[in-house]
Amino acid sequence: MSRKPIIAGNWKMNLLKNEAKSVFEGVKSFCENYTAQELPTVIIAPVFTSLSEVSTVACDCGCGGNKISISGQNCHWESSGAYTGEISVEMLKDAGCSYCIIGHSERRQYFSETDEMINKKAKAILAGGLIPIICCGETLEQRESGVTDSHISSQIKAALSGISSEDISKSVIAYEPIWAIGTGKTCDSAEANRVIKMIRSVVSEVAGADAADSIRILYGGSVKPSTIAEQMSQSDIDGALVGGASLKADSFNEIIANTMKVAVSA
Ligand code: 13P
Repeated sequence: MSRKPIIAGNWKMNLLKNEAKSVFEGVKSFCENYTAQELPTVIIAPVFTSLSEVSTVACDCGCGGNKISISGQNCHWESSGAYTGEISVEMLKDAGCSYCIIGHSERRQYFSETDEMINKKAKAILAGGLIPIICCGETLEQRESGVTDSHISSQIKAALSGISSEDISKSVIAYEPIWAIGTGKTCDSAEANRVIKMIRSVVSEVAGADAADSIRILYGGSVKPSTIAEQMSQSDIDGALVGGASLKADSFNEIIANTMKVAVSA
């Protein structure tokens, strides 16, 4: 099956409202030159305070803004209540989101998120009609001690536990080796492809071959305009979760353009 590529920008804790609006407008005007069929699925995950700002720009009036989907960077699994500082899936939806990133290594590392919490978030996101982008990845120490595959396999099994095959097939996974995030060191494309194939076999084990064939699995970690073509030409890499290079419209647009070139030549 041919899976539609995804290029997602994770803005992390960057860009004030006006800056966010201006980068978003830069991506939107680039996307206006293409049909939705030609473009990959383009997703942008701003900070919570910019969600309404960018969703106003991403209007559905036929101007091209609706070619960009909006994502949260995190959420809580409860729908409302006494959870100071948290945001629910319904609130994200209300602010214009159709995706939500969960389990990013920065959340696991700095905010002590566990596999169990990530699983609850995935279930809440799917129940609320949004699509989770579930992140996984190993530290340099884990890679050097040879436990990359077992670690990632257990992260994925835990995140997907108790979720139906149908819901898994529409979910998105992002493989982000922690040592490649924000370091300028991308994982070798063939190796990223090998790990992503391994993730696909884990999905097949827990949700069946059809779900494994449909689920889109992205690579993330120092993706740049100069790396994306080689990454996209791999058999199992379905797109990218981009950090630093998504903060400027020019570099993010170049990543989208280079992705389309690979799709056309494939
Ligand atoms: P960089 O592209 O800045 O390495 O960040 C990757 C990432 O963490 C995306 O979620």
